[in-house]
Amino acid sequence: MEIVRSVANLQQYTCEFREKGCKIGFVPTMGFLHEGHQRLMQQARAENDIVIASIFVNPLQFGANEDYETYPRNENQDVSVSKSEKVDILFIPTVAEMYPEEPSITMQVTKRTEALCGKSRPGHFDGVVTVLSKLFHIVNPHNVYFGKKDAQQVAVVDALVKDLNFPVTIVPVDTVRENDGLAKSSRNVNLTKEEREEAKFLYKALRVGHQSIIDGEKNPITIVKEVKAFIKQHTRGKIDYVELLDYPELTSIDEISGQVILAVAVFFDKVRLIDNMIIQLDNNSGMEL
Ligand code: PAF
Repeated sequence: MEIVRSVANLQQYTCEFREKGCKIGFVPTMGFLHEGHQRLMQQARAENDIVIASIFVNPLQFGANEDYETYPRNENQDVSVSKSEKVDILFIPTVAEMYPEEPSITMQVTKRTEALCGKSRPGHFDGVVTVLSKLFHIVNPHNVYFGKKDAQQVAVVDALVKDLNFPVTIVPVDTVRENDGLAKSSRNVNLTKEEREEAKFLYKALRVGHQSIIDGEKNPITIVKEVKAFIKQHTRGKIDYVELLDYPELTSIDEISGQVILAVAVFFDKVRLIDNMIIQLDNNSGMEL
């Protein structure tokens, strides 16, 4: 595995891969890799000739009072995880390498950001699409792999690729969970022992809501109330949001039908956790996607 830190070097590599007709799979990450990232790398490995992963904690997608400084980082560990997943190139740029000058162009996401994390983290998705546009130009991948835990990110990136005609395929990959259901996340390491115990109830709350939908509840307000009550009963976390929306449009609905997302975000002391379930209701199956 090659570690590349400069944009120019990486572009040279990717040009050569393209000339040889290689299919390039790309896994963009912010590092502190866990099994969720490993699953993305494994799928990329299975579906492409070359796998490139990036590690870059993108300051543009963090708000002023968010956890940019305390976001966990461990380059040595990330290098060994990437090697073990047979990544060909690990791209680890500095902030100065990615943003050498004050940008003269800014990007603004105008759809699918009125709800969920877009609402609670103003400007977050503007930062995400900016860094991904740069990374797509640098890496020139065929396929790009994203975890479904960040379902709003997947919806926004799908729109980015369509709106700006990036010739890439977005591949959403299932959320990887701990044994008790907690979604794997780099931020889990910043939970206290007590918070970690309580954090498992986020997924359990989603399952409670899911079960009510399967049992025939059609009113999104009822489900949201039920999920909020469950989280309040089992955790001391502060609920940021519980929402049930259509997916991938992320607009509000009066009645549950078609494809919907049930999503939660909860603040613990130093960590804000998110999780979601995408549910398909055609033929009333209520299947989790
Ligand atoms: O999901 C993430 O880790 C980040 O939002 C991403 C896609 C790497 C962009 O910085």
